[in-house]
Amino acid sequence: MSIERRSALVTGASSGLGVEFAKQLAQRGFDLLLVARRSERLESLAKVLTEENHVRVETFPVDLSLPDSPARILAYARECGLQIDFLVNNAGSAGKDLLQERSWSEHAKHLELMMISVAQMCHLFVPSMCDRGYGRVINVASVAGRIPRLNDLNYGPSKAYLIALSEALDMTVRSSGVRASALCPGFTNTEFHAVAGMLDKIERTPRFAWYEAEVVVREGIEAVEKGKSVMVSGRIYRWFDPFLQLPWFRPLIKRFVAYKRL
Ligand SMILES: NC(=O)c1ccc[n+]([C@@H]2O[C@H](COP(=O)([O-])OP(=O)(O)OC[C@H]3O[C@@H](n4cnc5c(N)ncnc54)[C@H](OP(=O)(O)O)[C@@H]3O)[C@@H](O)[C@H]2O)c1
Repeated sequence: MSIERRSALVTGASSGLGVEFAKQLAQRGFDLLLVARRSERLESLAKVLTEENHVRVETFPVDLSLPDSPARILAYARECGLQIDFLVNNAGSAGKDLLQERSWSEHAKHLELMMISVAQMCHLFVPSMCDRGYGRVINVASVAGRIPRLNDLNYGPSKAYLIALSEALDMTVRSSGVRASALCPGFTNTEFHAVAGMLDKIERTPRFAWYEAEVVVREGIEAVEKGKSVMVSGRIYRWFDPFLQLPWFRPLIKRFVAYKRL
């Protein structure tokens, strides 16, 4: 009798949190489909994970800022005979300033990557999870999606959408055995800030505010297993988050910003 193997799909698996998701899911025995643009990185990770964990690892290089990418990923998964039980929508980048960057196509591509592709991945992969009575979805959002921030018209709002999507999705599919969770990390040691040209932020932010990808991913996987539809990762951010959600906190921040501008 063959034991049914479970498969996970991780986007943004060429660095940072995506690599760590791939490692921890492989350690839990999941076969993997790894997605990002840099194929060499995906292939070398696949080689290591296959050798270390004896799981099957497929790679598919794709740019998620292009509208047809989610459908191409689904077609590839079918071609490989992989049924996706665990979906991690992790790929993301900081994006450009909504008002300063004058090329709309830059913003359209970023919104596609950050929101539309995630919605489409859920649209394509979740119904079959419901049919099979088992599934897990982690959408990697951010603490930046928990509160409006001055001059953040792009990244934070897109993560706020992922949090709202994940909560509603979880509510909708839970009775079918599928759970969805928005993982909200704070500052995490990955390539994210270097890619965004924000190395100064790394220097200006105190060390205690930074977490390792290993911790963030472990907390994310545990949260979706426990049925938490929003997981703020990192003890410091978990302590602080309830204040951010208090009804008087947003008006206070707006007053503070207005005062600083006087
Ligand atoms: N690091 C932090 O402090 C932090 C905090 C909160 C939330 N997050 C979120 O965590 C997630 C992972 O980021 P990270 O910190 O691990 O950063 P990272 O090391 O820069 O990894 C980003 C990943 O996304 C992929 N990606 C970017 N644009 C893509 C595109 N157009 N198509 C396909 N894949 C794309 C990258 O792969 P390729 O370049 O190979 O395509 C890479 O694998 C992001 O959603 C980010 O917003 C990060």
